[in-house]
Amino acid sequence: MRLVLLGPPGAGKGTQARMLEKRLGVPQVASGDLLRTAVRKKSALGLEAKRYMDKGALVPDDLVLKLIEERLSQPDAASGFILDGFPRTVAQAETLSTMLKTGGPRQLDKVIAIMVPDEEIVKRISGRRTCKNCGAMYHLIYDPPRNQNLCNSCNGELYQRDDDAEDTVRMRLDVYAATMRPLLEYYERAGLLKQIDGIGRPEKIQQRILEALGPAAAAAVKGKPA
Ligand code: AP5
Repeated sequence: MRLVLLGPPGAGKGTQARMLEKRLGVPQVASGDLLRTAVRKKSALGLEAKRYMDKGALVPDDLVLKLIEERLSQPDAASGFILDGFPRTVAQAETLSTMLKTGGPRQLDKVIAIMVPDEEIVKRISGRRTCKNCGAMYHLIYDPPRNQNLCNSCNGELYQRDDDAEDTVRMRLDVYAATMRPLLEYYERAGLLKQIDGIGRPEKIQQRILEALGPAAAAAVKGKPA
């Protein structure tokens, strides 16, 4: 299955992609995570990307596309993937379509947009904590770790993302508002888009996504644990 998850910052794309990768048996490919890894490694691409990420602006297409193309060419993505945070613009969506057709007649199965109002986004982002070691995600109120600063699974240190500062989040929301409508229209015209309500427990949202994916997802999750 080749799936795209769209939605505003903090909508729960990463949370859902991590849950779905276990059930669908295809990897999460998150452009934000790929960029943050490049930043941590202090590669030339990472240092360039950081200038944009720190402001809450979109990283230029050529940098993002390079990382995505590299990641999608790896063997574990051959039979499918869950794209999280990519594409962000119509230009990126068009390049993705070309990328998939190169090397075979592949195309996306579905694009799911997780819709969450701004006031809920602010609550979700301000409470988010991520494990430095394994990337597990928590929320101080909705899904608190057993120990406030440590990961339940690996005991790694939890941190708050640099771009989750209030001003940067506001900028990220402005960027989302300015770019998302044409992208939603693009996928609507392609007959791929399903919009789902992103309010409720993560398990409930996942159920909505699986329902939106229809029989293909039902076949993929058969026999896999929830
Ligand atoms: P990116 O990392 O993609 O960030 P984002 O899109 O802003 O999304 P987030 O990761 O903040 O949120 P999410 O929707 O994954 O929510 P999450 O599951 O964490 O991008 C960061 C930056 O990189 C961009 O600003 C840009 O600079 C650059 N970039 C990335 N991709 C790019 C691209 N394609 N082109 C150009 N630039 C790009 O959940 C949030 C919190 O809520 C968590 O604490 C979670 O536990 C909690 N939560 C989740 N679901 C629920 C629920 N149902 N109920 C209650 N709480 C919930």
